[in-house]
Amino acid sequence: MRYFGNNIKLFVNNRLVSYTDEGHDEAPVVIFIHGFPLNKSMWNNQIKILKADYRVITYNIRGHGDSDTGNDSFSIELFVNDLISFMDVLRIKKAALCGLSMGGYIALNAIERYPDSFDALALCDTTCRKDSPEAKNKRKKTIERIIKDGVINFAGDSLKNLFTPDSFTTKADEISSVKKMILNTTELSLCCTLLALSSRNDTCSVLNDIKVPVLILVGAEDTITPPDYAMFMHENIKDTTLQIIDHAGHLSNLENPEVFNHHIKKFFDLVYKDQLIIDQTIDKSFLREFSDKIMMLLSFKPI
Ligand code: MLT
Repeated sequence: MRYFGNNIKLFVNNRLVSYTDEGHDEAPVVIFIHGFPLNKSMWNNQIKILKADYRVITYNIRGHGDSDTGNDSFSIELFVNDLISFMDVLRIKKAALCGLSMGGYIALNAIERYPDSFDALALCDTTCRKDSPEAKNKRKKTIERIIKDGVINFAGDSLKNLFTPDSFTTKADEISSVKKMILNTTELSLCCTLLALSSRNDTCSVLNDIKVPVLILVGAEDTITPPDYAMFMHENIKDTTLQIIDHAGHLSNLENPEVFNHHIKKFFDLVYKDQLIIDQTIDKSFLREFSDKIMMLLSFKPI
């Protein structure tokens, strides 16, 4: 049984997961994984352009949006376990993943542990590297600051890192919606996720083992996971396409959605070209039958 639409709540391993499920039943499945400290609504624009041809699923990682936090300590491994259980409950055997930043860390860990469950990856503004000692220290200070000063100051600092300076004048709606996402995340979830990010494993040494097509997207002005991190993955994964997106920082799907959407649509259409061709054949045969009927009617002469 499949539920369609936005904000569906499903029990997965005794924990409520909130997700959105759009598009055709039989279409290839693309699952989007959001970044930190955001939620599934960051992908609304991408759902719009893909849902005509794909089954598009976005979900809230535990502790984000309205997904339950649960009782386990957060880690990228746990987030991958959640993803696999979620796919099991939805009876999805294989899907493509599109993950941004933390979503990309999850996608890379998932393909390492479950290589047969995925057809393709889109890795956006992300990296295979683990945190350096300096980055770990910075996360520790951020946690201390959240505990001391609360979420509002943290939200202000995060926005400055996530968006390009220009976006503060040109993308006011996107900035206010990301701010809302951050403010809606509890201090507990923010701190637990920061710990998970800081203790994540490196996935660079397994890039070579990835056997599915990979699209790598990165904002030209991304300072959190800059273009040279993307270039490194591009050079070490066998079948990759790299696109650097102008006028975008770390949230390239929100800062330059036209270019971002063009690349992901083109990529998934290529990955799933066989399935999509079947659909087109059905359309054409339907049109042929339809035009035959019109011809018959036109040639009908009343006595
Ligand atoms: C994200 O966007 O998910 C975060 O910037 C990831 C990180 O801080 O490493």
